[in-house]
Amino acid sequence: MNFSQTIIRWYNKNKRDLPWRHTNDPYKIWLSEIILQQTRVQQGLPYYETFVKKFPTVHHLAKAKEDVVMKTWQGLGYYSRARNLHHSAKFISKELKGIFPKEFDEIKKLKGIGEYTAGAIASFAFNKPHPVVDGNVFRVIARYFAITTQIDSTEGKKEFTRKAELLLDKKIPGIFNQAIMEFGAMQCVPQNPDCEKCPLKKSCKALAKSMVSSLPIKSKKNKIQTRYFNYFVIRRNGKILIKKRIENDIWKNLYDFPMIETKKEILPPLSRLLSEPLHRMELVGSDASLIERLGGVSIISVSKSFKHILSHQVIFARFWEVAESEHKKFIVNGTEINDGVYISESQLNKFPFPRLIEKYFDAKASKN
Ligand code: ADE
Repeated sequence: MNFSQTIIRWYNKNKRDLPWRHTNDPYKIWLSEIILQQTRVQQGLPYYETFVKKFPTVHHLAKAKEDVVMKTWQGLGYYSRARNLHHSAKFISKELKGIFPKEFDEIKKLKGIGEYTAGAIASFAFNKPHPVVDGNVFRVIARYFAITTQIDSTEGKKEFTRKAELLLDKKIPGIFNQAIMEFGAMQCVPQNPDCEKCPLKKSCKALAKSMVSSLPIKSKKNKIQTRYFNYFVIRRNGKILIKKRIENDIWKNLYDFPMIETKKEILPPLSRLLSEPLHRMELVGSDASLIERLGGVSIISVSKSFKHILSHQVIFARFWEVAESEHKKFIVNGTEINDGVYISESQLNKFPFPRLIEKYFDAKASKN
């Protein structure tokens, strides 16, 4: 039995029963693949079920309001996936009359769809002979052939894709692709794989050369950036000021509070924060007028520091609660800031927030 036959036989015996494996609908397959990028199956499953229920077709997703899509995505992270999904749904619904493109090159033109996802949709939905090379596939191939080329180099991507192409069972590319991915996810796992019970143990080169734990090889180290967010929680008439994040930064199109970002941690009093050089300022208007305004506010409490870990960033956030005042308006350059909205507590569940902000609300709620 060759590599592909062994993998497919293993898959038929060991595969998990997952809902996107019972459909050929390219829309649902697309949805599942976007959700599963950077997300484990166990975490992604409930989101997939919710999306399919709320937006059963591409037209439903296209018609949905952006806040509703983002709210449904809330907690999954990497929010650009949701924005691109929504963008492409509108394109398919309107420009393509709801008909999903069938050819790899056409699929790949859609926003948010790269080499991997295009291959997955083309092969799973349309049984086209395109390889898929995700993290699992890189690992299986690197180990089986004992390939030491860095998987995140241009050369590595080419070499592994070529290998995957050669291995691909052209009669059943969809099943082969699912099988090799599942094999990587369940059997050829990153840490301590159980090679004794592996059906490929006799021909695996990494096993023969004792290289299993050192493969695959990556060049880039994950560089982590540390950021300090100083949030202002501003209330008026019992309502709370939230603002939409519109910049090209993390959490674009989600909501948080007016904020000053600093290069180091700032403890109260407020004067320390106001004397700190600004690293980033997220209230609209000029820095100078913001500082002027904040100079006139009184802070009634400052939260503990919340640590929030993302894939490439660690964020330390403090929440400065501003004393409520009926007549205090946050005026910047002569106009009340207009990218914020005052909402009541009961409306909080209508707006998409990053997990960090949810953690703050949860901590507040458990204190009260
Ligand atoms: N991860 C990414 N795509 C997947 C799929 N189709 N099945 C299981 N895990 C996956």
